[in-house]
Amino acid sequence: MNILILGAGGREHAFALKLSQSKKVNQLFVAPGNAGTAAIAKNIDVNVTDFKSIKSLVLKEGIDMVIVGPEVPLVAGIHDFFLADDALKKIPVIGPKKDGALLEGSKDFSKQFMKSHNIPTAKYQSFTKDNLAEGKTFLESLQAPYVLKADGLAAGKGVLILNSIDEAKNELEEMLSNNKFGEASSTVVIEEFLDGIELSVFVLTDGQHYKILPSAKDYKRIGEGDTGLNTGGMGAISPVPFANDDFLLKVEQQVIKPTIQGLQEDGIDYTGFIFIGLMNINNNPFVVEYNVRMGDPETEVVIPRIESDLLDLFEGVAHKNLHEKSFSLNPKTAATVMLVSGGYPENYEKNKKISGIEKVENSIVYHAGTNQKNGEIITNGGRVMAITSLGNTIHEALEISYKSIENIHFDKMNYRKDIGFDLV
Ligand code: AMP
Ligand code: GLY
Repeated sequence: MNILILGAGGREHAFALKLSQSKKVNQLFVAPGNAGTAAIAKNIDVNVTDFKSIKSLVLKEGIDMVIVGPEVPLVAGIHDFFLADDALKKIPVIGPKKDGALLEGSKDFSKQFMKSHNIPTAKYQSFTKDNLAEGKTFLESLQAPYVLKADGLAAGKGVLILNSIDEAKNELEEMLSNNKFGEASSTVVIEEFLDGIELSVFVLTDGQHYKILPSAKDYKRIGEGDTGLNTGGMGAISPVPFANDDFLLKVEQQVIKPTIQGLQEDGIDYTGFIFIGLMNINNNPFVVEYNVRMGDPETEVVIPRIESDLLDLFEGVAHKNLHEKSFSLNPKTAATVMLVSGGYPENYEKNKKISGIEKVENSIVYHAGTNQKNGEIITNGGRVMAITSLGNTIHEALEISYKSIENIHFDKMNYRKDIGFDLV
């Protein structure tokens, strides 16, 4: 089969590397891809939301399946675009249609969905600028810290957690009346703060059947000890030791089953990944958010633990016979550490030469923001590469990654030296 992966990050490199090992894959394409995907697939310089150019590419290269990495093209309706086009409609797209993508594209929608299907989550109410005053009154009924969420996609920046009521009221007004996050914050979800430990569980579904993929924990803050600004993710560990069998059974019974059933009841034919962000409170799961894709850098620890053919699972999604498929997992722990550009997540420079990747022997180097220029690999983003290792313990996996990182250099390279600090 000829496969097209859409996206350009570490997640897409991890998909590409895994699929490049499948006997069923003939040609692999990544659009737009990075320097890592260029080494194992053909990169095509097409934007993930340029559906017309994607159509030309798919028809020209005889693509048999499209795997969508990021949420933006899903929320924009790439799957619906394929279904509406006579030349494309038979080509499976791994990723939900617009209606399913709303689970990530609208916080208000996802909260309503959870509420109507009795899925445990924080209590909430939604507000627009027409009922700003009620929003402020609702804030007064809650206790600090206050959680405000822009309804729409805001590149991971739309959630504010505030300690003071005055600040919370102010920010609510900024979001609703002054378009702090543009159109995304024309509706704001205010919710109860959940005090627990966070982790994520990943599900692949064909709309009726599902497979539960390994759990993972990511480290979102830029600074050690989970301090400083939020990033896309600075590292991840899989499996998560505190996600024991008892907890995971509750996740399946209380969250995963009602989610799949709820989608069916609501007439949403969902095909693809569901990333369930959870808070573990006294060994009980509460949903913090749904994403309609895999996480990044969680993919860089989940995928390397899957031993069997990933394409086989994707075919199960495409043909709605996922229940006939099985997969095997490596019981070892995977740890990944993100190397980022100095200054990230604020301003940073690009085009720095990266050296030493070839010296890494015991880890997988997943490229994220990298590019090729005159035969050299250069930085091309905030998150530059994820260094993943497998070990018998978290400690061992991390030790291998940190040892590998000693080989890699670029100007102003930064990374967290304490990934997994709360787990070991
Ligand atoms: P979200 O985009 O909804 O995942 O929110 C981003 C981050 O904010 C989450 O990963 C949590 O760390 C935090 N967060 C979101 N909602 C809550 C909540 N209700 N209670 C505590 N933390 C939250
Ligand atoms: N690492 C968090 C995310 O992919 O949303």
